[in-house]
Amino acid sequence: MQLSDKALKLVSDHLKDHQKRLTHILGVCEMAETLALRYNVDLDLAKSSALMHDYSKYDSYEEASKYLTKEELEECYKYPFMLHAYLSAYKYKELISDNKDSFNAIYNHVFGRPNMSILEKIIMISDYTEKNRTYPDCIEVRKILLDGDLDLAIYESLVRTIKHCEGEGKVAHPRQLEVLKEYEERIKNRWI
Ligand SMILES: [Fe+2]
Ligand SMILES: [Fe+2]
Repeated sequence: MQLSDKALKLVSDHLKDHQKRLTHILGVCEMAETLALRYNVDLDLAKSSALMHDYSKYDSYEEASKYLTKEELEECYKYPFMLHAYLSAYKYKELISDNKDSFNAIYNHVFGRPNMSILEKIIMISDYTEKNRTYPDCIEVRKILLDGDLDLAIYESLVRTIKHCEGEGKVAHPRQLEVLKEYEERIKNRWI
């Protein structure tokens, strides 16, 4: 059995009462498949990571405390939306595979990390641009991505996500700003 078949079974069962979330997850999987083929990334790893990226979206803090380190739990007190990403990564490791690249891709899918692998980039940007996302920002970034500019798509998604967070009065996560800086440099250096 392929990892992605196992992941599909697990997530469909775990999120059976969250159909909208499942639709989003299948959209992420479809985009990740397209990008994995384009960028020559292992298809089964890309699809299984995409399918598991939001596996723990509705899991409790108590469940997370069985897997996350003390430092990770403390971070999640301040940035609660990180909890599902960290826990989903641990669940992937426990239930699907101990592949480190997949673990990192799920762990960092909310806004990436410095020096991401191609798989990490794929999962992060597929989450933002999957076909069920209908915000104008997501549509614009999807176009950049499908036109073939992965790094620019990531940069634009970060700019827009940070602006959106600021609009809601939320503080940007320090890692989010670090990744933004890295991609700003990458884009700038193309023209020198
Ligand atoms: Fe997520
Ligand atoms: Fe997601």
